[in-house]
Amino acid sequence: MTTTDLPRTAPGTAAKIAELARRREVARLGARDAVDKQHAKGKLTARERVDAFLDPGSFVEVDELVRHGAGAYGDDTREAYGDGVVTGYGLVDGRPVCVYAQDFTVFGGSVGERVGQKIVKVMQRAIEVGCPIVGLNDSGGARIQEGVASLAAYGEIGYHIALASGVVPQISLILGPCAGGAVYGPAATDVVVMVENTSHQFVTGPDVVRAVTGEDVSFEELGGPAANAAAGNVHYVASDEQDALDWVQALLSYLPSNNLDEPPDFGGAGLELSADDLALNEIIPDEPNRLYDMRGVIRHVVDDGEFLEMQAAFAPNLLVGLARIEGRTVGVVANQPLHLSGALDIDASEKGARFIQFCDAFNIPVLTLVDVPGYFPGLAQERGGIIRRGVKLSFAYATATVPMVTVIVRKAYGGGYASMGCKHYRVDANLAWPTAEIAVMGGEAAVSVLFRRQLQEAVAAGDVESLHAALVAAYRAEKCTPYEAAERGYVDAVIAPSETRTEVAKALRMLRTKRQASPARKHPNTPL
Ligand code: HXC
Repeated sequence: MTTTDLPRTAPGTAAKIAELARRREVARLGARDAVDKQHAKGKLTARERVDAFLDPGSFVEVDELVRHGAGAYGDDTREAYGDGVVTGYGLVDGRPVCVYAQDFTVFGGSVGERVGQKIVKVMQRAIEVGCPIVGLNDSGGARIQEGVASLAAYGEIGYHIALASGVVPQISLILGPCAGGAVYGPAATDVVVMVENTSHQFVTGPDVVRAVTGEDVSFEELGGPAANAAAGNVHYVASDEQDALDWVQALLSYLPSNNLDEPPDFGGAGLELSADDLALNEIIPDEPNRLYDMRGVIRHVVDDGEFLEMQAAFAPNLLVGLARIEGRTVGVVANQPLHLSGALDIDASEKGARFIQFCDAFNIPVLTLVDVPGYFPGLAQERGGIIRRGVKLSFAYATATVPMVTVIVRKAYGGGYASMGCKHYRVDANLAWPTAEIAVMGGEAAVSVLFRRQLQEAVAAGDVESLHAALVAAYRAEKCTPYEAAERGYVDAVIAPSETRTEVAKALRMLRTKRQASPARKHPNTPL
């Protein structure tokens, strides 16, 4: 049935109600062949996605009967009800959420005037009531037929994303081939999720790339999940659509509904020393340059070992993600010695800074675990702008006002010490393990600068190796410890690794009521 088959007038109340039912049915069913095409690609339809995401029966649709009304499309049968997007609100684990789901079966989910109006309407509702906005994107971008009206629609959406930023959590799922405006919007939201095999995102597709630059690149290479994850555009790559929806549900359980709310409290686990706590005493290798997986440390400190890692494939030298301590959300930032020995580079600095800003916006305390040999040196990093881009990390710590706790587990050298949540940038509680090495630089590098002349003389005398080893050992014993920092109060306490969970929990308890005022200003001029 097409909408033109519907009766234009109806004689009585019963017939009018029947007409409403028919129109609703038309709106909900969509075009059968388009739905089959969507399923054949391994994708759900917009309504199926909404149903799978929200608590059963909780969805309230808004603007179901909106049509594009553009008139210029020629064929009236293409005036689908809903016009390319399903919008409304519902519950996730009993908490309100606004959603929009683009309908690829209608003009490829492209965004015209009415689609834009519908999306903006639910965004405004979310901002007013203070609930997250979840966007299920499956769209070819601006609707070509509607010309500048489509660009205006995207402009309105982009404006409201910026307005909602830091007010309510905004989460974007990329669930199909998304181009143009369909990727600019999500990129400005807090979290982006893609799905293996079925989702792609790029500013311009392979054909345009070929025409403009001459590069011959596949869909996957240009905009597949792996490419986007490596570029830092994506926080999680799901194995299928259900996995994506499940992950977002889990993510929401860590977040407050808005910036004036606290994240949900799942209740404390108790502070008795456990076998898991004691295992931390064994985690740092005796050899200073031996690798270990920082995820192991995180899992021993947080509730049930659960760590919702984000952007795992981007800057793997810095781990970021959400977890809970005593049932309350914390954002974890941690160097990962398995990659670049945990050194900070441009990508890691930007990844960490954006995550800290996200936590700060949504009242999520930040737990930092430090094992950093410094900033990663080299021409590529300098040419890439590490001076300008590397500073973002310390700036994020300095401007955040949520409770912050830092634990130095091993190295904290030079700029790495400064940038990874040190006391001087106003982190609240700074702890160090006895294995901490807090210094301007490591032994080898320090000795080569401080004792260059003596070492050159020793080369001539033939005993350079033993002198070098003795100097490094002396430097390490004197400088590469937590005690110089502890003597100055730059770390509040040196603790056994096994005490970490309890000490962090106590610090977070004490900091729960932290209020930090900043000087009056419009906003800091954040280095972007
Ligand atoms: C109108 C569109 C459309 C669009 C797709 N369709 N994109 N209709 N406007 N932007 C329609 C197709 O005509 C087709 O209609 C149906 O959707 C499905 O599209 P297919 O091409 O058959 O699907 P697929 O092969 O999967 O390819 C999907 C795609 C491709 C990669 C998204 O359609 C594509 O490249 N579209 C154009 C992308 C683009 O350049 N968008 C404009 C970006 S500019 P039928 O009738 O055949 O089913 C932009 C500016 C934003 O967004 C500015 C913000 C301020």
